Amino acid sequence: MMKSTYSYDTLFPIGNIDPKVWSSFTEHLGRSIYGGIYDPDKPFSDKNGFRNDVKTAVKDLNLGVIRYPGGNFVSNYDWKDGIGPKKDRKKRMDFAWSTVEPNQFGIDDFCAWAKEVGVEPMIAVNLGTGSIKSAAELVEYCNHDSGTYWSDLRIKNGHREPYNIKYWCLGNEMEGDWQAGHMSAAQYADKAREAAKMMKWVDSDIKLVACGSSYEMLPTYLKWDETIMKQLYPYVDYISTHNYNMNSGQGAQNFLASWKQLDDHIQNTKNVLNYSKSLQPKFKDKDIKICLDEWNVWNMQDIKMDSLDDLNGMTTFELTDAKKWEEHPAILQEKYSLLDALVVGGLGITILNNVDAVEIACLAQLLNVISPITTDEDGHLLKQTIYYPFQLLTEYGRGEVLKPHIESDTQSTDYGDIPVVETATVYDKANQQLHVFALNSDTKQSSTLALHLTGFKSINLTEHITFTGDDLKAINTFENPNNVIPTKLSTENESLDNLTLPKASWNVLTFDVAE
Ligand code: AHR
Repeated sequence: MMKSTYSYDTLFPIGNIDPKVWSSFTEHLGRSIYGGIYDPDKPFSDKNGFRNDVKTAVKDLNLGVIRYPGGNFVSNYDWKDGIGPKKDRKKRMDFAWSTVEPNQFGIDDFCAWAKEVGVEPMIAVNLGTGSIKSAAELVEYCNHDSGTYWSDLRIKNGHREPYNIKYWCLGNEMEGDWQAGHMSAAQYADKAREAAKMMKWVDSDIKLVACGSSYEMLPTYLKWDETIMKQLYPYVDYISTHNYNMNSGQGAQNFLASWKQLDDHIQNTKNVLNYSKSLQPKFKDKDIKICLDEWNVWNMQDIKMDSLDDLNGMTTFELTDAKKWEEHPAILQEKYSLLDALVVGGLGITILNNVDAVEIACLAQLLNVISPITTDEDGHLLKQTIYYPFQLLTEYGRGEVLKPHIESDTQSTDYGDIPVVETATVYDKANQQLHVFALNSDTKQSSTLALHLTGFKSINLTEHITFTGDDLKAINTFENPNNVIPTKLSTENESLDNLTLPKASWNVLTFDVAE
C-alpha cells in the first residue's frame, strides 16, 4: 500500500479562501439560460419564469459570484437587445454556437434571478464586436442611480434601484481566433485600457478582470499576458484564465493526476504576473489576482473533431447534437462519470492550494451546459456526479488553507512524478474545525495518509466522507439519480497516522480541533 505523510502547522498558511473562490458561470449557450434558469409559463417556474427547482439547488451551493452572459457568446452580444418589453425584443444570430438568440432573458432578468439565489453577478462586456462606449453604457444602466438616459431607462424598465455590480470582465478569450472580434494582444490592450477608463469613469468602485491567456496550445500563450499587462496593470484588478481538463484516453490514473496540469497552468499565470509587476515600479504595492473564471472537466462529448489537433485551428464549434440556427438546443450537455467527478475534486484541491493568487474561480458552467446540474423539460433536476465534490468544496472549503510539507510515495504520470495522494487542508478557525480534502489517484489499491498537525491542543476525527466506486464510468441519470453519490466511512479505527483512502477516491476528513 502506498503511503503519504502531510505535515501542517497553523503558523504557515497559504492564504484565506475568498468566498468568490466558489463561483460559477452561466452563458447564453444551449439550455443554460433557457430551460435552465428561465422556463416561463411552466407549473414548476415562478411568476418571473425562473425555475423553482434550479433556484433551490443553486442556493444550496452558496456561491460567491455567477459570471454572465458569456463566454464566447458575449463577443457578438448587444446587451441592449435584452432589455425592455419582451414582445419587442429581436432575435439575433449567435455566431459563437451557431444558434438563434431570442433575447427573452437579459441583464435585468439575470440581476433579478441572482438576487433571489443570493449571489453577486459578475458581468462580461463585449470587447469583440462591441464598443467601449456600449460597455460604459452598460455600467451606467446597471450602476448609476438616476438622471441619465441609461439609468432612467433601467428605472422605466421597472428596476428603481441600481444593481451596483462590482465585478466586470473585459471581454472573453480575446486571444482566440474562435472569438468574434478576436484581436492581437496589443490591440486588446489598447481597447481594454480605454474601456476600463470609461467604465471606471461611470463607477469608480468597480473591479475589472482583464482577459489573460487561457490555452497552452496557442502560440500566444503567456506572451499575451506579458503584452497586455504592460498597459493594463494600472487599470485592472484581476487577470482571467480558463482551464478545462479532458479525458482523452490517457488512462484513469493519468486523468486523475491532471490536477497537476491546472497547478502548472496557475503557476505560469502567477509567474507572468510577478514579471509584469516588476515592470511597474509605480505599482509595487498593487497585486493583480487571478480570476480562473472557467474551470471544469469537459470531454467535448458532442463536439465534432477527428483528433485533439482539431482544437488548434477551431474557429467555430461543430456540434453533433443540433443543426445550425436552432433556439437553445440541447448542446454541450455532458454526462459526467465518477472518474470525471474525482478529477473535479482534484482540481478543487489545486484551487485551494493556490488561494494566495486565485481570488475568483468559476466552475464552468452551472446549468445543463458542461455543468453539475441538468434539468429536463418536465420539471426534473439531476445532480450530476461532479455536483458532489463541488458542493462539498463549497460547504467545507471555507477558512484558511495551510501550507503542506509532503513526504509521499510518488507515481509516474504524464505530468511527471507526483504524490499518489494530493491534499488541501483548510482551517476553519471560527468553527474550530479542520477539513482535509484528499485525492487518492491510485486506481489499484487504497493508500495510507498520515497527518502531522502542529498548532492544536486537541484533534478529533469526526467524519470521513469518501467518493469512490468500482465502476469509474458510472453516471447519474434521471432514472437512477443516486447511482454515484458520496458515502460516509466509519472513523472508529482511523487515527491521524493511519487514515485509509480507498483506491481511486476523493475524500473529505473533518476534525474538531482546539488551539
Ligand atoms: O464554457 C464554454 C466555452 O468555453 C466558453 O464560451 C468559452 O469562454 C470557452 O472556450
